[in-house]
Order: sequence, then C-alpha cells, then structure tokens
Amino acid sequence: MKKLGRNDLCWCQSGRKYKTCHMAMDEKIEQYSLQGHIVPNHDMIKTPEQIQGIRESSKINIAILDYVAEHIKVGMSTEEINQMVHQKTVEMGGIPAPLGYQGFPKSVCTSLNNQVCHGIPSEKDILKDGDIVNVDVSTIYNGYFSDSSRMFMFGNVAPETKKLVEVARECIDIGLEQVKPWNFLGDMAQAINDHAKAHGYSIVREIGGHGVGLEFHEEPFVSYVTPKGTEMLMVPGMVFTIEPMVNMGKADIYIDEETDWIVFTDDGLPSAQWEVTVAVTEDGYEILTW
Ligand code: MF3
Ligand code: CO
Repeated sequence: MKKLGRNDLCWCQSGRKYKTCHMAMDEKIEQYSLQGHIVPNHDMIKTPEQIQGIRESSKINIAILDYVAEHIKVGMSTEEINQMVHQKTVEMGGIPAPLGYQGFPKSVCTSLNNQVCHGIPSEKDILKDGDIVNVDVSTIYNGYFSDSSRMFMFGNVAPETKKLVEVARECIDIGLEQVKPWNFLGDMAQAINDHAKAHGYSIVREIGGHGVGLEFHEEPFVSYVTPKGTEMLMVPGMVFTIEPMVNMGKADIYIDEETDWIVFTDDGLPSAQWEVTVAVTEDGYEILTW
C-alpha cells in the first residue's frame, strides 16, 4: 500500500484529509507494531456508515432473539426454534446467515446442555425440564452481518448448571470492561478466563469470537484464553464478537463425526455461552446486539 501524504484524502472514505482524519491514529498503531504487537489493518477498521449498517442488522438480530425468548418453551423441538428464527428473519427483510454457511443446514444454531456450539436444530431434540440451550442467531441485513446468542433455561435446572449459565453471562460484562482503544484482545481474554477459572470452570480454546460486519467471520480470531498484553491491539472502529464458551468441567471438546458440525464437551458436562457484537469506540465500546 502506498503511504498516504498528510494532505491526501483519508483511506477511510470520510472525504477528509488524512492529517485531520486517521493519520494520528495510524502513527500510534505503527508504534505498537514496532514494539512487536499485533495490530489491526485498515480492513478491520469500520467506517461510521458501516457501523451504522451493522447496528441496523443487529437490531433485527436482537428482535429475533426477543421473539425466541417470548415463545421458547418446554416440549418444543429445536427445529421449531429454527422455523421461528427463519420466518422472523425473512419477515424483517433479513437473511439468516447460518443457512448454507459452509454447508450448515439450518438458519440458527441451537446447542443443548453438553453441546458447546454449532448445534443443529432437529425435530428429535425436544426441550425438556432441566435443559439449558444456547440459541445463536446471525443475520444479514442490507449486506451487513450481526451475531449474538443467549442461553435459555427450562424448569428445574440443577443449581450448579444455573450457576454456569450465570457465570457465562457475567463473563460478557467482565470482558466488556476491557474493551477500549489501546487495550489488547488478550486483556479481555484474561479477564474472562480468570472469572471462569475462579468458579472452577474452563474456557474452550479452539473456538472463539471473530471480527464481524462485512462478512460473517472476519479477522481477527478472538481467543478468550490468551494472557493480557497479548493478541491484537484494539482501536476505534473494530467490530468483533465476545462469545466465550464456558465449560463446567474440562475445556476439551470434540466435533461430532456424523454431522461434522456439532461441538460437544469431551467430559459430557454442560457448556454455556452468551454472545454480543461490539464496536470499539473512541473511549470504550458500544454493544450493538444486546
Ligand atoms: N453463530 C456462530 C458464531 O457465533 C457461527 C455459526 S457458523 C454456523 O460465530 F454455520 F454454524 F452457523
Ligand atoms: Co459469533
């Protein structure tokens, strides 16, 4: 890439001169890079227009999750959740991002109990008393992608399982506290991991969050097990997901061979996950999907 001059138009398409737009930020990023840190490239920094697009997509994503929250109940199959999500998405002018994504067969992921993520809705999986389920909704609206998930609990959930779901939820807020310019993704990861570990839980290593917005999964990969001070520098305009998978027992997982999708805990113990899409702002963060 050709180095921009002070008076050239900024790369961000604001129409402003580089020197009054992103020049200072780029110089600061360059300093971190010279110190050996991983830094975002321009593709990972969204313009205000793009963030507005992701915000609008996110509104639909939330509305779908709200609709699921109103209607989900014991006795329902996870396939019925899939149909609700599909219909609601289309009704609002969106496209369910999971459907056909790398061959995924349904419009939403529904991950039950010891399923960690990427659960495939099925008529055979009937929600029953004591179950927990993660419903992971991802929407394309006007070309912009949003991604968020929530846990739902049914009837008499074992107290230790309820605790797991609560701690997974707390991990989001604890992670968010670390989201601000010039922190590192590892700062967020360690805060989340420490919280999970303090409760005797573990966080899945192989699967994490991701940049999101113009594509379903963009760089960077977002780990929740890396140490503070490591991983990518956060700068204003980055948009990514926070979605740690918190296991009650060991962190080890396997992918079901039959579907090549559904991820299970190795030890058969439950796993819980909540997910938000966040934008890094000038002084902190904006949750696009809560
Ligand atoms: N929604 C998941 C995530 O949070 C991705 C699911 S990929 C799919 O990243 F194909 F299973 F939908
Ligand atoms: Co995601």
